[in-house]
Amino acid sequence: MNIFITATNTNIGKTYASKLLIKEFSKQGYKVGVYKPIETGFNKIEETDSFALLKEAKKYNKNINDLTIDDICPYQFKLPSAPIVAKNNTPILKEKLLSSLEKIKELCDIVIIEGAGGLFVPIEKDFFMIDLIKLFQAKTLLVSHSGLGSINDSILSKNALRDMDYLFCINLFREKESFREITYPYYQAINEDVLFLEEDISAIASKISL
Ligand code: GTP
Ligand code: MG
Repeated sequence: MNIFITATNTNIGKTYASKLLIKEFSKQGYKVGVYKPIETGFNKIEETDSFALLKEAKKYNKNINDLTIDDICPYQFKLPSAPIVAKNNTPILKEKLLSSLEKIKELCDIVIIEGAGGLFVPIEKDFFMIDLIKLFQAKTLLVSHSGLGSINDSILSKNALRDMDYLFCINLFREKESFREITYPYYQAINEDVLFLEEDISAIASKISL
């Protein structure tokens, strides 16, 4: 099973969510693998998402001991920008994206795939982050932040995903103290039971792996 972690923007908590899910699924007995198909701002290896994800997954899954950063991140670019800019003239090949994922899948029950930025980050002129989800036939976890503006950000991303299989959660981290007063009343008004990334991680893992 492929689970794609996306967010309303960059720096919202995709890597944080991915690490929580690796731990939770591993606790439940699954062999978990990780995949970061494209990473930009890739300079010091130890500071990359790919490094953090692989390190976390290796704690629990011996099958992936021999996988390297290059295996779990086939496209690495130095510039911290959208892939379409960072890649310069390098073509992003769907065959390569899929074959790299296949190699990981063979060693795992679940692959946690971390996107870059949000859903409409461009990869090629006519290919966006959201298209990777379709290419990988993945279920989606959409992570939103908890600060002012998160309602609008969440609705925009949910709209983009409306025909797809996704689960929504909030990373209660930014403006944590004011969230209950500033943002939560909206969810009460629309009768939506919000899942919170950290406290509801086991429910999130169960619902997304159904
Ligand atoms: P990009 O991959 O760069 O787009 O960011 P991201 O969406 O993966 O965000 P990331 O998980 O790296 O979180 C951004 C920063 O906030 C990191 O320094 C995290 O450690 C921190 N952070 C995010 N969520 C939490 C949280 O719930 N608790 C704590 N303690 N730190 C968090
Ligand atoms: Mg990240």
